[in-house]
Amino acid sequence: MTSDELDIHTREPAKERIAPSSAFVEQANIRDSSLYDTFEREWPTVWNRAAEHVHWDSPYDHVFDEQTREWFVGGELNAAVNCLDRHLDEQKNQRALVWEGLFDEQRTFTYLELTREVEAFAAALRELGVEEGDVVTLHMPMVPELPIAMLACARIGAVHSVVYVGFSADSLTTRMAESGSELLVTCDGYYQRGGAVSLKNKTDRACLGLEWDVTTVVVDRLGEAYEYALGPNDFDYKTLREDHYGTEVEPVARAATDTLFLIYTSGTTGKPKRVTQTTGGYLSYVTWTSHATLDLKPSDTYWCTADIGWITGHSYLVYGPLSIGATVVLHEGRPEYPSKTRLWEVIERNAVDILYTSPSTIRTLMKRGESYIDEYDTSSLRLLGTVGEPINPRVWRWYYEAVGNGECPVVDTWWQTETGGHLITTLPGVTDMKPGAAGPPLPGISASVVDASGESVDPGEGGYLVIDKPWPGMPQELVDSTRWASQEGGLPNTDGWQYVTEDGALVDEDGYVTILGRVDDVIKVSGYRFGSMELESAIVAVEGVAEAAVVTGTHDGHERGLYAYVCLEDTYERTKRIRKAIHESIERVVGPFARPDAIIFTPELPKTSSGKIVRRVLTDLANGNDLGDTSSLRNPEIVGELESITREN
Ligand code: WTA
Repeated sequence: MTSDELDIHTREPAKERIAPSSAFVEQANIRDSSLYDTFEREWPTVWNRAAEHVHWDSPYDHVFDEQTREWFVGGELNAAVNCLDRHLDEQKNQRALVWEGLFDEQRTFTYLELTREVEAFAAALRELGVEEGDVVTLHMPMVPELPIAMLACARIGAVHSVVYVGFSADSLTTRMAESGSELLVTCDGYYQRGGAVSLKNKTDRACLGLEWDVTTVVVDRLGEAYEYALGPNDFDYKTLREDHYGTEVEPVARAATDTLFLIYTSGTTGKPKRVTQTTGGYLSYVTWTSHATLDLKPSDTYWCTADIGWITGHSYLVYGPLSIGATVVLHEGRPEYPSKTRLWEVIERNAVDILYTSPSTIRTLMKRGESYIDEYDTSSLRLLGTVGEPINPRVWRWYYEAVGNGECPVVDTWWQTETGGHLITTLPGVTDMKPGAAGPPLPGISASVVDASGESVDPGEGGYLVIDKPWPGMPQELVDSTRWASQEGGLPNTDGWQYVTEDGALVDEDGYVTILGRVDDVIKVSGYRFGSMELESAIVAVEGVAEAAVVTGTHDGHERGLYAYVCLEDTYERTKRIRKAIHESIERVVGPFARPDAIIFTPELPKTSSGKIVRRVLTDLANGNDLGDTSSLRNPEIVGELESITREN
């Protein structure tokens, strides 16, 4: 691997510095800048401070076992108790969850009510035969029953595996097969832009693909709009709830190192990558970062717009904020749907204190302009957060000024499914912000940017972002393997433990990290994470397709989208039928949310002399960038042709 293969454009480090407003600092959970030094000096025992934010049934013996790389060894706790029961003494009548349905329905649950719901479903799961350690798959839209089911699993020590509702039947089968899951909770269907979508047919198909029988619990979301018949292994959620409401379910004390959940993400291979989170380390870490980065307090109303099907929803919609005891808004639709002013309406109606969203949502809102915000009272906002992709300084500015009125700090939180929680971001009451840079690593997190030989690069130079020390939110996979899933076996010349993040980055003189994007074949579009391999193999499965490469592009100023470059076999012609077959195959193998924005047929793909596809050329084409020197390609003559083909699309 050479540094030339850092297949990404570098950019200027952020320069401007903005201090948090004094009004924010005065009330901030963390105001002490010496925390950075303390965490460095007292690592790893200092992580006590994260564990102190959760309730332990029995105390741990060690903060960190250097041999096994496990956190809070010997401790026992229950995640549902932390998110519910422990708040009942003081907050039982406070709202835990406010569900904002698409059709102006609202359902609210106080902490006491949510606890009762969770107990009822926990009792139902037990009756259905679920035992401690069993994997329960949740394939559901954004309805209250999803967090209820997650916490019900946690209460009885079952392991949940949430599979994003947009995934296809095939994707669901693969994930259930990999985890050996025999119980599925789903809905009859759900609403999204364009109307009702049925789910039950899809989950039935997914279960047929497994070698074992699956018990399915169905939540009725569509009501009379969609009739379905319950099969012999199907149970109606409402009936189960009625049968078990009022049952007390003793929470199961789980070892800190026991699994809380599994989540699958896209890696560099075509197969989903399994991420296993522990009960003690993960819960401590997301509670701590909710306190430290998101400045969450029990009195706050908090809205994270991410779908629970992804890690952001797990960590910062469910576990972190409920463990803090805040009021959490759960929104059924997307932040810009059903109306252009939806986001501002929901903020005003609920007097939201903290908003956590993605750069792509901010860009959409920015395009619509400020006049839409002005109609609403958003003065309740105190802190703004972003996650999922690099945020451009201009977009950052707009978020800060138009949404936050120049008074709310913006935390640009860098992290991944693999990290469980935030690793790189400012502490909003302590550190100055630099628009475009995520910030320094959080206290206790050690990150560096290295070249292909593993040596640190100079400030301002691009390289590979690596994490040099374990942290409590790291998944079980990182306990066993130091460089888990990094490309070509990781970076050489590293002593000891290291996690290669697969992101390119640069660090400035002040230690602020600017994220440049993925350096592997994982691509991010609108917050969705795809492996180019999984999309490409779906395309190549279509009869007549010889080869394909998928990249992201923003050609002609469009929103970033998926561009599929496709070569057909000689005897096939580019037809609408093949285009349609490609779309269908992607929808079948991955899901409709992975539909490419452009399918571009080409006689050849640009290749190195050894025959490897050069994605950088395709990415540049799809973004309308200057292509630079392409003379080292095996087939440089294809570039000019590709340029005009891309432009035509
Ligand atoms: C990208 C989402 C720039 C990054 C929590 C990472 C970011 C991938 C940021 C993980 C950020 C996430 N700035 N890029 N603040 N946050 N990313 O697993 O490329 O869906 O590797 O987790 O998103 O995506 P994932």
